[in-house]
Amino acid sequence: MCVLLVLLLIVNVQRAALDHRQVSIDFEQAFRDGRLLPRFWTSTGMCPPAPREKAADFLLSNDSLLNFEIIGGLPNAGLKYVRIHWLLEMIQFSHYDENKLLFYNFSRLDALLDKIYEYGLHPGFELMGAPGNIYPMEKKRRFSYFWTDLTMQIALRYLHRFGVEYVANWRFETWNEPDLKNYNTLNFTTDEYINYLQSVRLGLDAAGRLLNNIHLPLRGPAGLFRTEQNHPFCWTALQLCNDYPRNCPFDVISFHRKGSGTRADEIVNGESMLMNQIWDKYPNLLEFKYSNDEADPVAGWSTPREFQSNMKYGAMLVSTVLQHWSTKTNSVQSHLESISHDNGFLSYHPFEFDQRTLLARFQMNDTKPKHVQFVVKPVYSSLGMLTNLGPQATDTLFLEGNLSYIVSYNRDPFYSCVLLSLSNDTFDPTTKRSNITLKFAIAEESTKRRIGYIVEGLQESLNDPNSIWIHYGKPSYPTADQFASMRTVQFPSVLKGPEMVSANTKNISLNLNLRAPWIVMVRLCSEMVPAPSQVTNIRIRRIYTYEAVIFWSEEPSVTRCIVGYEVWFRADQTQWIQINSGHCTPFLWFQFVSNTTIGLTGLYRVRSVDMFGRYGAFSETKYFNG
Ligand SMILES: *[C@@H]1O[C@H](CO)[C@@H](O)[C@H](O)[C@H]1NC(C)=O
Ligand SMILES: *[C@@H]1O[C@H](CO)[C@@H](O)[C@H](O)[C@H]1NC(C)=O
Ligand SMILES: *[C@@H]1O[C@H](CO)[C@@H](O)[C@H](O)[C@H]1NC(C)=O
Ligand SMILES: *[C@@H]1O[C@H](CO)[C@@H](O)[C@H](O)[C@H]1NC(C)=O
Ligand SMILES: *[C@@H]1O[C@H](CO)[C@@H](O)[C@H](O)[C@H]1NC(C)=O
Ligand SMILES: *[C@@H]1O[C@H](CO)[C@@H](O)[C@H](O)[C@H]1NC(C)=O
Ligand SMILES: *[C@@H]1O[C@H](CO)[C@@H](O)[C@H](O)[C@H]1NC(C)=O
Ligand SMILES: *[C@@H]1O[C@H](CO)[C@@H](O)[C@H](O)[C@H]1NC(C)=O
Ligand SMILES: *[C@@H]1O[C@H](CO)[C@@H](O)[C@H](O)[C@H]1NC(C)=O
Repeated sequence: MCVLLVLLLIVNVQRAALDHRQVSIDFEQAFRDGRLLPRFWTSTGMCPPAPREKAADFLLSNDSLLNFEIIGGLPNAGLKYVRIHWLLEMIQFSHYDENKLLFYNFSRLDALLDKIYEYGLHPGFELMGAPGNIYPMEKKRRFSYFWTDLTMQIALRYLHRFGVEYVANWRFETWNEPDLKNYNTLNFTTDEYINYLQSVRLGLDAAGRLLNNIHLPLRGPAGLFRTEQNHPFCWTALQLCNDYPRNCPFDVISFHRKGSGTRADEIVNGESMLMNQIWDKYPNLLEFKYSNDEADPVAGWSTPREFQSNMKYGAMLVSTVLQHWSTKTNSVQSHLESISHDNGFLSYHPFEFDQRTLLARFQMNDTKPKHVQFVVKPVYSSLGMLTNLGPQATDTLFLEGNLSYIVSYNRDPFYSCVLLSLSNDTFDPTTKRSNITLKFAIAEESTKRRIGYIVEGLQESLNDPNSIWIHYGKPSYPTADQFASMRTVQFPSVLKGPEMVSANTKNISLNLNLRAPWIVMVRLCSEMVPAPSQVTNIRIRRIYTYEAVIFWSEEPSVTRCIVGYEVWFRADQTQWIQINSGHCTPFLWFQFVSNTTIGLTGLYRVRSVDMFGRYGAFSETKYFNG
């Protein structure tokens, strides 16, 4: 259970003005207004640091794998895709055979993709980089063949390795920002670039033909689309798509539009401007799906910024999603397919919390061996809240004073996740406190059985591990106690419930006192929703001598009435004990800090519990030899 700890040490006792208001939600109305809500925001991205030739060492490092596994640790595929630059640098050229066919060593790429698969993620597979030293030799003689063959080999290899269903859900994409000098490492000319696009498309088609004619979608050109003069590759690619739609290599047009670092709505506005420019020039692209796969508040992931360290960024990400949903429902951007947040990076000292990342990384160089500790930032938890949104939703409502909300639901069995947020973007809200009364009018059809509800929230300074770190004087190597106190506030807190109302109850009223910026999620569940399922795939990762992270998996569901998970452990010759009592465990992992008495060796099992107190079956037990 996630008890809200008011750490008096760090909370400024503010007597500032109060934002006092009432929000009424009528489900009969919501059911009339709602539309299908596609989960268009569930992607993150990252780039291995220079030199790109060392991409494999970085991506397969302990820190990077743990980062990916935590990214995969949100329920309901809260983050489903991870878009990664320079993957082709992980492949080694092996040899030519007597027919001059190209053979590669894929072992390092295999190792990474096996992990991504195990973590329940899907790659945003950018066909970017080049294996070893082979490209310069092939470039002159067999340019198209080289790209078609390499793409086909990759697609076929992983279709066979992981199956059609999984790989058909990958997001293959062409070279990232190809017009930029620092990305165009192969010195493509415009003609070569267009040739590259056509060749990789042919490679995917060739692989698909060998597997029942499946179509593997391709995204691109992943460009910034500045002036045509400076960014000729991307504009020329779209020209081609406009002039010869059937020869267009792309299924989804991708581009990057970020804000300038002040307001979330700069992103959605920038997109609309760009798309209008594109549609004016290329009217045949009006019906194309498109994606802003770097939809961030500001460029430059590693630049430290205060707003990225705390609730502001978490709330901005929620605003970004709600604003996009609004433009999608109002047909301004009805063909927007998805957005991606480019925040899957690993932060580094001394900017543990301040960079554009989901997690704060602490490289513990003072221990032998060295090890890594991650602390969750509010932005990760805000994605964890968004994952509970139901399959249908009303348009976003934007109220005065920067309050916005969305009512999502599943009608039968009744489930609702109402997400509200108060955010003044990168600025401090002038009103630091909100007193909100939420009034729900339940639809007649949903009241046949009991309804359970739970209210969870992320609030300024209360769910802010960074402020605790600052309080301790920003130690490079926090102590175990300091990590423990940062972790008590890293997840959404339960503000009310779980509570039940009896069948036939029509109205529910809740009063909340909140510190802004905040995000609040109210989940309502009919008891008709089935009890939770069994969790699977228990994985134990050692962090340090007596410390491990336990991960598990769970089938996605359109109704999420689960309030948390219980993690149980049994050392040799002892009883089962619940090791996460008193720790908030809303997501698919738990960091277990054990001790010399009980150690880590033994059996582990996990089960979920929902708001009616119903348990899922225990997972299979997993033995860990610590
Ligand atoms: C990676 O983690 C493993 C298991 O915890 C550990 O044995 C190994 O030393 C770590 N590697 C590095 C380079 O830190
Ligand atoms: C492929 O590369 C891996 C690591 O880079 C190496 O260990 C392995 O021996 C190579 N395999 C072959 C067949 O050369
Ligand atoms: C691309 O051009 C740069 C600068 O002229 C050169 O250093 C580099 O080797 C070239 N790369 C390839 C793959 O030709
Ligand atoms: C907050 O209000 C300002 C001024 O009306 C507006 O420009 C901005 O987009 C709003 N931000 C959010 C997240 O609602
Ligand atoms: C948001 O911040 C701006 C700039 O500080 C301020 O003028 C405005 O009143 C704030 N809006 C709200 C709703 O807090
Ligand atoms: C919040 O508003 C409710 C209802 O108007 C009121 O009963 C309560 O006292 C208020 N709380 C605070 C802290 O102002
Ligand atoms: C319940 O809510 C509806 C709609 O908001 C309202 O018309 C009605 O008066 C409320 N009933 C009670 C008993 O509060
Ligand atoms: C820990 O070591 C890494 C290199 O392995 C370095 O980048 C980092 O700055 C070090 N951390 C501290 C706190 O010195
Ligand atoms: C060791 O951890 C177990 C489980 O958390 C706890 O019950 C026990 O009291 C701890 N022992 C010591 C000496 O801290």
